[in-house]
Amino acid sequence: MDLGLAGQVAVITGAAGGIGKTAALSFAGEGARVVVWDQDMQTVEQVAAEIKDHGGEAMGVAGSVASSADVARVVDQIRAHFGTVHVLINNAAINDDAPVTAMTDAQWDRVVDVNLKGPFYCARAIAPLMIAQNYGRIINISSRSHLGELNRANYVSAKAGLLGLTRSLAMELGPHQVTVNTIAPGMVSTERVRSNPNYADFLERAMARQHIKREAQPDDIVNAMLMLASATSGFITGDLIYVSGGRLT
Ligand SMILES: NC(=O)c1ccc[n+]([C@@H]2O[C@H](COP(=O)([O-])OP(=O)(O)OC[C@H]3O[C@@H](n4cnc5c(N)ncnc54)[C@H](O)[C@@H]3O)[C@@H](O)[C@H]2O)c1
Repeated sequence: MDLGLAGQVAVITGAAGGIGKTAALSFAGEGARVVVWDQDMQTVEQVAAEIKDHGGEAMGVAGSVASSADVARVVDQIRAHFGTVHVLINNAAINDDAPVTAMTDAQWDRVVDVNLKGPFYCARAIAPLMIAQNYGRIINISSRSHLGELNRANYVSAKAGLLGLTRSLAMELGPHQVTVNTIAPGMVSTERVRSNPNYADFLERAMARQHIKREAQPDDIVNAMLMLASATSGFITGDLIYVSGGRLT
């Protein structure tokens, strides 16, 4: 099936590793011109070079999504290089876990700034380009854990907040043919997750609660991104898709 992504400009935040890197390579494989956005220039250049080596088109950009000044600068760079943006995937995120009684102001702010303010800053800066061309796709990567999780009040609150951001932006941008949706992954096998000291426990719990009894791979999430980003998905907006093998709790 032709997803209609050839020639489109797809901006992917947090694209130096994990799910974001897989997304960058897959969107390039569909013929999209990919903006590989992460914090460190060297790593984004590596991913962009990998795309170019496979005959794709990409640019690497470095900056923190949690800084409105960085976001404005990066979006200026993207506009200068590619002219516009068709797809924005708000994928960059961090976690910094602690029980609520021990969580510091800084821990709360850092996680909410990257995971919730970041998507707002990026959508605010890029939406005018989408409105101007009367077309766009914004995909916010939340988490199944927006439903609640121990010792992660900052992460969970930010990921739950993304659902409200999605629904509000869908209302505001719908008249301009810009769709806005959320994906809520369950546990996905990325380097960050596999290197967690509690990885074995996480996996055991996931296997007990998922209906599909296998570990999710980044491609499982990226396939949902491709579907929502497709030109054929223009009537899906304000929605939430769980990609969690059926797991909710
Ligand atoms: N892996 C999972 O099990 C899982 C589960 C549910 C949801 N998710 C979500 O999926 C997305 C990708 O997760 P992942 O496991 O690939 O994570 P990851 O840690 O492997 O990748 C996240 C990327 O975001 C980048 N990043 C962090 N802060 C940034 C900032 N301020 N500005 C720009 N880039 C920044 C990091 O450098 C990193 O490359 C995240 O939104 C995460 O919350 C992941």
